[in-house]
Amino acid sequence: MNYLIVGASSGIGKNITEKLLAQGNEVYTAQRTDEHIPIGAHHIIYNATENELNIAELPEQLDGLVYCPGSINLKPFNRLSKQDFVNDWEVNFYGAVKTIQSVLPKLKASKGNIVLFSSVAAQTGMSFHASISAAKAAIEGLTHSLAAELAPAVRVNAIAPSLTDTPLANKLLADDTRKEAAAKRHPLMKYGQADEIASMACFLLGRDAGFITGQIFKIDGGISTIR
Ligand SMILES: NC(=O)c1ccc[n+]([C@@H]2O[C@H](COP(=O)([O-])OP(=O)(O)OC[C@H]3O[C@@H](n4cnc5c(N)ncnc54)[C@H](OP(=O)(O)O)[C@@H]3O)[C@@H](O)[C@H]2O)c1
Repeated sequence: MNYLIVGASSGIGKNITEKLLAQGNEVYTAQRTDEHIPIGAHHIIYNATENELNIAELPEQLDGLVYCPGSINLKPFNRLSKQDFVNDWEVNFYGAVKTIQSVLPKLKASKGNIVLFSSVAAQTGMSFHASISAAKAAIEGLTHSLAAELAPAVRVNAIAPSLTDTPLANKLLADDTRKEAAAKRHPLMKYGQADEIASMACFLLGRDAGFITGQIFKIDGGISTIR
């Protein structure tokens, strides 16, 4: 199978790429730098908020797309500027839209599928998350709408993680005190690991998920549903 992972140089996207390579797939990755890409993956330089993806570097058959770029920009509501909202919108939402539009003919022809990233903060109210929760709620709307529009050719699903130990979450897990507090907020008494989120993405990409579309999967240690 051929997969495109946008954002494979760190965190969840890197873990997804490593898993797909280990299963014997061809993995094409696209991100702003060519550093830290797992060995064996193809890489394309791509800034999803600024450039067009060079689809000439992709194979004709494309079985799946995962869009990983995101942000954690936590501020009190009255300190969020228009630019904060625009930045979060562009990297989390519009970059995904633009990427999907550029590879959709290949995905349709290959009966491929799409995995997007939301956040626990889209459906669970969390202070200081106004701009990121709005951008991720847009991803959830897009997931539902595209799943309808593209069925039966292309499946579309999203994953909504809670705090996960990746470079994106560095500041929130900067020391033992913060790590302990973050773990205690979750009913499972831990924060997420990239591997735990990547496993769900790989499942959704594969044939075993062939009857699943239009779904948002919360992988969040129970924080969104358990008191
Ligand atoms: N970690 C968490 O706690 C958490 C919680 C909830 C939701 N999520 C969501 O899960 C997804 C993955 O997060 P993560 O923690 O794995 O993030 P991460 O470690 O920051 O990785 C993001 C990847 O995206 C790439 N990227 C960033 N901006 C890009 C751009 N403009 N164009 C192309 N590539 C870009 C980065 O590579 P380059 O810098 O080389 O471009 C990197 O490979 C995100 O959508 C995030 O919002 C994460």
